[in-house]
Order: sequence, then structure tokens, then C-alpha cells
Amino acid sequence: MLVRLSNLINSLPPYHFANAKQKIFERQEAGVDVISLSMGDPDLPAPPAVVERLCASMKDTENHRYPEYRGMRVLHEAIAEWFENRFGVKLTPEQDILPLLGSKEGLAYAATAALNPGDIALVPDPYYPVYISGTTTLGAEPYLLPLREEQHYLPDVDSIPASVLSRARLLWLNYPNNPTAACADQAFFERVIDFAQRHDIVIIHDMAYAEVYFDDFRPMSILQIPGARDVAVELHSLSKTYNMAGFRIGMLVGNPELVDAVGRLKSNIDSGIFRPVQYAAIEALRLPPSWLAERNTIYQRRRDLLIDGCNALGMRAEKTRAGLYVWAHVPQGYTSRDFTNWLFDQTGVFLTPGTNFGSAGEGYVRISMTEQEERIREALQRMQAALQTK
Ligand SMILES: Cc1ncc(COP(=O)(O)O)c(C=O)c1O
Repeated sequence: MLVRLSNLINSLPPYHFANAKQKIFERQEAGVDVISLSMGDPDLPAPPAVVERLCASMKDTENHRYPEYRGMRVLHEAIAEWFENRFGVKLTPEQDILPLLGSKEGLAYAATAALNPGDIALVPDPYYPVYISGTTTLGAEPYLLPLREEQHYLPDVDSIPASVLSRARLLWLNYPNNPTAACADQAFFERVIDFAQRHDIVIIHDMAYAEVYFDDFRPMSILQIPGARDVAVELHSLSKTYNMAGFRIGMLVGNPELVDAVGRLKSNIDSGIFRPVQYAAIEALRLPPSWLAERNTIYQRRRDLLIDGCNALGMRAEKTRAGLYVWAHVPQGYTSRDFTNWLFDQTGVFLTPGTNFGSAGEGYVRISMTEQEERIREALQRMQAALQTK
């Protein structure tokens, strides 16, 4: 007999990237040399000093016990120091910072702290899928704000009808953006802070790609804007920043009431972060800036290869300033999904259709830079050969 599942679970779609991993595995089992430019899972290793610190702290048996629910004080201090060095913003270690098991859980929990059933969450489209599931699982309703190329992929909050605004409690933001790779400037952040203050709306700014940037560009934190701490929290992650996706560590910073609320929620659900992972994170946050510069130089070369390659194939893509992705137009005559399916069948090159991030992603594909240069070259050659013979 089948068990009766909850309405919540029945309404939850399978997570796209879990499905994608299965698809890739099946094709590889069938002997295909798959080049996956699909997931934002860094292929480069975590820094050696981080791995050493992790291993060394594993040997201290005191660290085998339950960790602190809200993270070690020394980790809070290391995050505060890192944040001040990077963004020039002083955070109070215990009040304004909460270490997380990766930023993904923090997204869902921050929404839980802000939304009631029947509320509206403003979700820019295309979006990271958690903004939708983190809204709907609470019985709240997403209101989509299309991100358009001609508006530099920034949402137009002035276009929201009053009937929506009266129920809106949350605005999701994500810059550097996944999937479009767009970045937001100070004027935009000032506008949305003012908007949030006027309408009593909480902002969750997802900054998972804060530290993948190119040339002289440096993405800014929303907390650099005066007044932001009254209405906003920001999520950071060591996954992309220090190639530590498997370690599962990130942090929520900003508005102290929300930070405390998420801490309360989490301590009722999980039991904190394995201490060796916290020590490893401290080591990472104290790495010299030269480590990031070298790592970002590698991504920058991959970005250049992909952008030039896509433009040469007629898949127009703008030069990006930050983030792990290239957001390219699909060739004429295809939908996003048809193109990615066709390409995978023909070449073994796996890209993500823009529509996986919402209907505003139609006409685009997202290409991840998490493969070595020779594999990217090989992927582009296969794409060129397939497009020539279609
Ligand atoms: C926009 C965005 N936010 C958050 C995350 C979650 O990152 P993590 O949970 O590894 O910190 C990702 C991962 O791909 C992402 O793309």
C-alpha cells in the first residue's frame, strides 16, 4: 500500500539538478563522453591550507561531539573580519551573523522567518529555484518580476500593482545573478532599500557568487547601503568562493531579528556545523587575496573562451563581470529546452535551458564555467560541428 504523502510534498517538483545528474550518469553509462557545462559545481579543489586544517581538527576528539547550534564564536569573528575587509561594513559577530550548512538552507529558512501563508513574495524571473519552493512550501505566493536584457536584468519594483504590494512581505534578490550573470550597482540597491522601507518588505539578497569576479570589477554587498540592515539579510557561501561546495558552509548576515529568527528555527531542526568544517572555513576566510585573484584568473580565461565561442556560433552572449555562468541566446528556431536536448543527443554537451529558471529564461541557455579550458574548447568544437550540419 502506498503511504499518503502531504500536500506540500505532492506539490513539490523534483529538484532539476538532481534529475540532471541522473541524465548525465545514464549517458555516461552508455559510453558517451559527456561534457557537462550545466551545474555550478566548482571543479577546482579547495585550498590546500583549508584541507589541512580540516584534517588536523578532525584529530581533536573534542570536535567529534555536537557542535554549537549557532556556530563557534571564532567563526563569527572570522566572518566579521572578512566582511569588513571585503565590504568595509562592520558586523556584530553574535547578532548579525549566523553560520549555515551552505547558503541554500539559509534561503529557505530566511523565507520561513519572513512569510506567512497567503503572503506574497516578489521573485525576479529567471530565479534560483529555491526562491519559488522556499515561498510555495510556506503557503505563500510568488509574484514574478521579469528580468529583461534591456533593463540589465534588474527588476522594476515600480511596476508592481498596489494590490500585490499590500500583500508583499519579501523581495528576493541575487547579484551577481544566477543564471544571467548580471550585477547590480549602488543606485539599484538604494532604490530597493527605499522601496522595502516604504512597503515594509524584507529583502533576502543571495550573494553566493560574491567572490567570482573579473577584471577590476568587485560586486557590492547590499549591506553597504545605509539603512539596509533594517530591512535586509544577505547570504554568502564558501561553495563558489573557496571551491568548498561539498563542505556545506555559508552564512546569513544582516538584520539581527531575522538572523536570530533563523538561528532559532535551525536549532529546532539541525544541530550545527561539524567543527572541523568551521575551522576549515576560518582558514579559508583568512586566505590572502592573491588566492582569489589566481582562482578568478582561471575562470576569467574560461569566460573569455565561452563568450567568444558562443558569439562565433551566433549564440549572442554579453561579456560578464562576475559569476560562474555565461547566459547565451539559443540559435534561431529552437526553444531553450529543445536546443539543450538536441545538443545533448548530438554532442554529449550538456547545458541548462534558461527555462529551468523560469519562463523569462526562454530563448537562453546557461553555460557553466566549471570545466577545464581544453574541455570547454572541445565542447565548443562539438557545438560548431553539430550546428553546421543541422
Ligand atoms: C544563486 C545561488 N544561491 C545559492 C546557492 C546555494 O549554494 P550553497 O548552498 O552551496 O551555499 C547556489 C548554488 O548553486 C546558487 O546558484
